Amino acid sequence: MEGPSLCVPGPASVSLPAPLQFRRGSQTHSDNALMAIALQPKPGILDIEPYVPGESNLPTGAMPIKLSSNETPLGPSPKAIAAFKSVAAQLERYPDGSATALHAAIAGRYGLNAARIVCGAGSDELLSLMAHAYLGPGNEAIFTRHGFLVYRIITLANGAKPVVAPETDLRTDVGAILERVSERTRIVFLANPNNPTGSYISIDEVRALRAGLPGHVLLVLDAAYAEYVRRNDYEAGIELVATTPNTVMTRTFSKIHGLAGLRLGWAYCPQAVADVLNRIRGPFNVSAPAIAAGVAAIEDVEHAEASAAHNERWLTWLASGLGKLGLKVSPSVANFLLVHFPPGPKKGAAAADAFLKSRAIIVRRVDAYGLPDALRITIGTEADNRAVLSALADFLGGAAP
Ligand SMILES: Cc1ncc(COP(=O)(O)O)c(C=O)c1O
Repeated sequence: MEGPSLCVPGPASVSLPAPLQFRRGSQTHSDNALMAIALQPKPGILDIEPYVPGESNLPTGAMPIKLSSNETPLGPSPKAIAAFKSVAAQLERYPDGSATALHAAIAGRYGLNAARIVCGAGSDELLSLMAHAYLGPGNEAIFTRHGFLVYRIITLANGAKPVVAPETDLRTDVGAILERVSERTRIVFLANPNNPTGSYISIDEVRALRAGLPGHVLLVLDAAYAEYVRRNDYEAGIELVATTPNTVMTRTFSKIHGLAGLRLGWAYCPQAVADVLNRIRGPFNVSAPAIAAGVAAIEDVEHAEASAAHNERWLTWLASGLGKLGLKVSPSVANFLLVHFPPGPKKGAAAADAFLKSRAIIVRRVDAYGLPDALRITIGTEADNRAVLSALADFLGGAAP
């Protein structure tokens, strides 16, 4: 990758020839050489492919049906919106840096120790903080082949090496992760359920993973979609966090709580890890509107349950409808489906994506996840789901053989 073009005087570690130091006026050949030292970020950062979020707009400017970012079609709780608005009159005030009310609300909802909760600007921030705290040059972080893209980014950003464990049928393979553990491993990132595959592993498999990892490895259970899962053998990981000194669970307000635009997430941590994250997070990393809306959202259990019920109904409906069209759909327990298209230009994923856009429907290409023949479709409103199914029926029926 090309380095940045900005040229500045060299960093402090570059020793300057004595006559050059702090001299102004006529420049010599050596001055120019010094000026040409390019500003460089830390090793690893330029290896990062920047994260490309799901698209939001159509080139035509028409209002799209947006099924590209796993947002809830039901929106946030009306109580969360009211709480958000109530803070508008006091925006000149800093928020409570300890987010005490939010910690208490989350702890009350799930029966947790509030002191072990750390909140952040989305769970993305918390994942980054963990990478910042525990990864550095010479370390490795393991994640799965089609795991959430942010894990790779935050590993490289801290100079550590990403180690990719293969999946089995687009599902986490605990044995493959354990085989890749070395004395350099510091973190295993596991999205459970995973985005973009929609697959999950049972709590017994998660326990086996934890039991197989050495004590110096932090297991990060990213449970961004936990509230959607309706499986008896699934648990997000609260008990593992409570009973082991090296497991963290992250959760988000962006999905079922419908507050993606506010940026709010939380982590449940061993006390020692919470202490580490609290030292390095920004002192006011969660805004006052986010705290207020978050408290109201977590307390509105009815709204979250209605969202989960809506999702369960339409996830099943859409998966079955797409299957009837002859498309392979990966089994999903989350609020989206990974849909596979035949390779090739005519009926492939790229053509399907373009066709959907022509119908003002935006879904997610997942080439960056190594899945160029698939599209990820978020479960929307009833009308959205019907529209995407009918558009894909037209696409498949109408496409030239
Ligand atoms: C698996 C997973 N983890 C974490 C996140 C980040 O969520 P946020 O930063 O909005 O809390 C996402 C968002 O799409 C996700 O899919």
